[in-house]
Amino acid sequence: MTLWQARMGAEPSELLMAFSASLAFDRRLARDDVRASIAHVRGLRRAGVLTEEEERPLVDALGRVDREIATGTFAFAPTDEDVHTAIERRVTELAGETGRRLHTGRSRNDQVATALRLFVRRELAGLGLAVLELQETLLERARSAGGAELPGYTHLQRAQPVLLAHHLLAHGWSLSRDVDRVLEALRRADVSPLGAGAVAGTSLPLDPDATAAELGFGSRFENSMDAVSDRDFVADTLFIAALLGVHLSRLGEEIVIFSSQEFGFYRLDDAWATGSSMLPQKKNPDVAELARGKAGRLIGHLAGFLATVKGLPLSYNRDLQEDKEPLFDALDQAALACRALGGLLATVRFDLEAMAKAAGQPALAAVDLAEWLVGRGMPFRRAHAVVGATVRAAADQGRPLEELVAEHPDLGPEAVALLAPGAASARRRSAGGAGPGAVGVQLERFARRLSADRERVQAWVARA
Ligand code: ARG
Repeated sequence: MTLWQARMGAEPSELLMAFSASLAFDRRLARDDVRASIAHVRGLRRAGVLTEEEERPLVDALGRVDREIATGTFAFAPTDEDVHTAIERRVTELAGETGRRLHTGRSRNDQVATALRLFVRRELAGLGLAVLELQETLLERARSAGGAELPGYTHLQRAQPVLLAHHLLAHGWSLSRDVDRVLEALRRADVSPLGAGAVAGTSLPLDPDATAAELGFGSRFENSMDAVSDRDFVADTLFIAALLGVHLSRLGEEIVIFSSQEFGFYRLDDAWATGSSMLPQKKNPDVAELARGKAGRLIGHLAGFLATVKGLPLSYNRDLQEDKEPLFDALDQAALACRALGGLLATVRFDLEAMAKAAGQPALAAVDLAEWLVGRGMPFRRAHAVVGATVRAAADQGRPLEELVAEHPDLGPEAVALLAPGAASARRRSAGGAGPGAVGVQLERFARRLSADRERVQAWVARA
């Protein structure tokens, strides 16, 4: 039986129910709905709409529903349109006539918005934790990488040697901004819509501030129409997941490339690699590829949902029911991708020799040669030309760069010393740069940032 049958002269058609039912996915909000319902019942009692004798059986029934859901014994009925209907039906079974008072002064419009915000507050904080775990793995691997170097690439061409720690932390810092976005979005989601009713509030003396406080929300809605129709906290979450997905896809792509025989920088642990059903020798980076691939799905969820809400008139429209599946999937997949990549990165073996060999190629110190000339008074543009011509001559003549540098009147033996492995980056002292001194500072700053972020996210987890 639907909640609105009395208005209709006929039972809803089967196809209408099949098309509009959301129970298959919104049952995931069940415990949040119960929590919000308990706060609502208490509010009704404080308002004098319910007596204590009516409040108690309702709260008891909701408590029982919560246990049934937690233990998987809650029996959903085929006629339950959505999770809200199911819970109200069960409360009425348990509390009898008093159950019929549960929905006083409330609509599924403010109800679903409340449950969804409670859900987002908890799950988004959980996603924040998953990102932090991945960052901690990156930090650990960066710390233990010591002075190991690999080429820094631009255009995927070897550019300058960088510390492996610097390279790993580059990913770490982009994830810090994802954590920042999580915290910002949590603050915006932290507003209670309960008490907004269907669209305009209620004539009953309910107090939305009190229910907001009871649910641990930072504040209540300012406008009932906005409260029931707004889903930008969902869009915020989908954007965070999409951009995080883009960051993870870059990490994934890099693992794919670096673990290829052509690069040979990374060796995947057997527990984090896959085989081939046909080619017996294969060891594949499927985890990294999936992390790369999930970005498409996450971007799709954001784009699809924005299209769903675009142009919706005030206030609630049933289109909004389409918010849940992308939201649930985006949060699940983004967190899973963080954890899987973290597991892979924690166990990957770095082939430091292969990296050092690639990074030690003398031409990667070309700009350091030019800057050495600048230190001796030569304008940079001229120094660039001198070194560029020397590199070209070495390539044309098929001779080692060191020999030509040694012979060059502007360069000579002192300049040759710059071409030794590690010499170039040791001279790089600029803040935030890839030299050992600056990276040492960076490691400290990153570690501090990480523990501050962890505390900030934990505070939300504790409130959820
Ligand atoms: N299942 C609905 C949703 O997810 C609940 C709200 C239904 N409200 C309504 N007026 N039909 O949005």
